Amino acid sequence: MLQSREIKKHNTAQAAAEAIAAYMEKLISSDIGRFDIALSGGNSPKILFDVLAGNFAGKIFWDNVHFWWSDERCVPPEDNESNYKMAKEHLLDPLIIATTHIHRIKGEISPEDSSKEYSDEIKTNLKKRGGIPVFDLILLGMGPDGHTASLFPDQLNLLKSEKCCEVSTFPSTGQKRVTFTAKLINNAEQVIFFVPGFSKQQRIKEIVLGENQALKLPAYYIRPQHGRLLFFLDEDSAGLI
Ligand code: 6PG
Repeated sequence: MLQSREIKKHNTAQAAAEAIAAYMEKLISSDIGRFDIALSGGNSPKILFDVLAGNFAGKIFWDNVHFWWSDERCVPPEDNESNYKMAKEHLLDPLIIATTHIHRIKGEISPEDSSKEYSDEIKTNLKKRGGIPVFDLILLGMGPDGHTASLFPDQLNLLKSEKCCEVSTFPSTGQKRVTFTAKLINNAEQVIFFVPGFSKQQRIKEIVLGENQALKLPAYYIRPQHGRLLFFLDEDSAGLI
């Protein structure tokens, strides 16, 4: 049973990003000990990462934070498609995060090996609830087709996976991805969707209002069983709710 879902509407993507950063500031204080966060990829997170590495660089206790990824494209880490590369440029390098606190998905090895290796690293490092690793915070985006992480509408079977990570395929290009499963995401303490932009407006309406169409959307199935689910939207993506 979903514990709680909060919809937060802001005028702009920048304002939503600043609100997420302020929320994270409250979560990640110096007395909490280790904090494991999983980052999403794509373009929207750049806005958030720039805020975190800018105005919030000195406000959040980064020394306790370990960085993971909810999904990764199966490309080398120096490839412009790499979610790790984008986070390194916009967040990890500016904050001078220790390499021991950076746990990237290896896009340069075989997808199956990378998925297995990442699942094992997660299980080794994280606390567990019901035998499933627990992330303190998972940041997600959502595509115009309702995908999240790299869980795509034409691969809904991955929503039933008992694993922590799976290999998926980006529908339009065939690019292989390694992705968290719904099982792992839904065991997190906090899940934040940062979804700005007009192109997501219809999907957000379907998901937030629980319309039948949402049943075809992977993002609809993200409901942390023990944690909080928060949507940070801008006026474009929230235009129909
Ligand atoms: C990825 C992301 C993906 C992303 C959505 C939204 O690897 O691409 O993890 O799930 O969050 O596609 O991307 P935008 O923020 O660029 O619209």
